[in-house]
Amino acid sequence: MLMQTSALPLKPLRRGKVRDVYEIDADRLLLVATDRVSAFDVVMGETIPHKGAVLTQITAWWLRQLEGRVDHHMLSADIDEIVSAVPLLRDHREELSARTMLVRRTTVFPIECVVRGYLSGSAWKEYRESGTLAGEALPKGLRESERLDPPIFSPATKAEEGHDENITVDGMASLIGDADARELERLSREIYESGRRIAAERGIIIADTKFEFGRVPNTGREGGGTVILVDEVLTPDSSRFWPADRYEPGHGQPSFDKQPLRDYLDAEKRAGRWDGNYPPPPLPEEVIDATSARYLDIYRRLTGHSLDPNGRH
Ligand SMILES: Nc1ncnc2c1ncn2[C@@H]1O[C@H](COP(=O)(O)OP(=O)(O)OP(=O)(O)O)[C@@H](O)[C@H]1O
Ligand SMILES: [Mg+2]
Repeated sequence: MLMQTSALPLKPLRRGKVRDVYEIDADRLLLVATDRVSAFDVVMGETIPHKGAVLTQITAWWLRQLEGRVDHHMLSADIDEIVSAVPLLRDHREELSARTMLVRRTTVFPIECVVRGYLSGSAWKEYRESGTLAGEALPKGLRESERLDPPIFSPATKAEEGHDENITVDGMASLIGDADARELERLSREIYESGRRIAAERGIIIADTKFEFGRVPNTGREGGGTVILVDEVLTPDSSRFWPADRYEPGHGQPSFDKQPLRDYLDAEKRAGRWDGNYPPPPLPEEVIDATSARYLDIYRRLTGHSLDPNGRH
C-alpha cells in the first residue's frame, strides 16, 4: 500500500520530508516512514513503492545488530506489537505495516553527527578546493572516493529551514557542552565502525552517514539522563552506500539508492526543464520503478532476505 501522507488518530508532532511523527504519550512517539522521496532537498510529487518500509526495516535491522552495544530508541517495528501497544491504530494496520516504528521519546540534540569513511560529495568538494574537511587540514594527495582511516567526524547543525551548516567539534561543544559533544562523537565513531564492518561482509561500502542522538530523562535518579541513538540508522537516505565490487578511488562511485532519480533530475535541469526548486518535474514510471528496485535491493543485500510486507524478521 503506497503512502504519501499519513492521517492517524494521534497528535501529529511534525512532518519531515519523509517521515510523519506522532505523539503517543510523554514517553513514546510513533515514526511513520511514508513513501515520499526527496532529491536536492525537494520532495517529489510521486511516491516510491516500498520505500518507507525499507527505511524503517533497515533501521530496525541495524538496531538489532547493534543490540547490547548501543542504547537506542526502538521499542517495536512489528505491526502486531505496535497495535497491541496502541490499540487506537487497529484500523490502520495495513497502511502502517512495516513502515512504522514505536520509539522512546527523547529530546534530540540539534546536531547531525556525520561520519565520513570515504572522501565523497561535499567533503570531496571542500578538500579539492582547500585541502580541508570541516576546516581541518587533511593529508595532501587524497583522491576522490578514497578511504579515510580513521574516519572523520564532521558535525553539522540541524537547521529547521534550509541546509544544515557544518560546524567544528569545538563549535559543537559550545552548543551542547563538552561532555555531550565528546559522547556523541564517541558513539558516532563506534556505530559507524561497527556498521562499516558489518556492511563490508555483505559487499557494501558505507561511504558516509549521519546519526542523531537524543536524551531520555532518568526517572527517579539524579543526573542528566541517558544519551541514546534515535531517528533512522544507516539507511540509504541517511548514508551513501556503494557496491564494494565496483569500488575504485579516483572518481565518483555508482551508488545504490536514489541514483536513477538524481540522474533523471540532472538531465531535466540540463535541458532547462527544471530550475531545482519546488515544484519538481513529474517522474516517469521507469524512474519510479528503478528507484523502488534500488531500495529493495539494498534491503536484500544487507539483511540477506527479501522485505516482508508485515515487517517481521
Ligand atoms: N526518538 C526520538 N525522539 C524524538 N524525536 C525523534 C526521535 N527519533 C527521530 N526523531 C525526529 O523525528 C524527525 C523525523 O523526521 P524526518 O527525518 O522525516 O524529517 P527531518 O529530519 O526534519 O527532515 P529530513 O530528514 O528530510 O531532512 C526528525 O526531526 C528527528 O529528529
Ligand atoms: Mg531526518
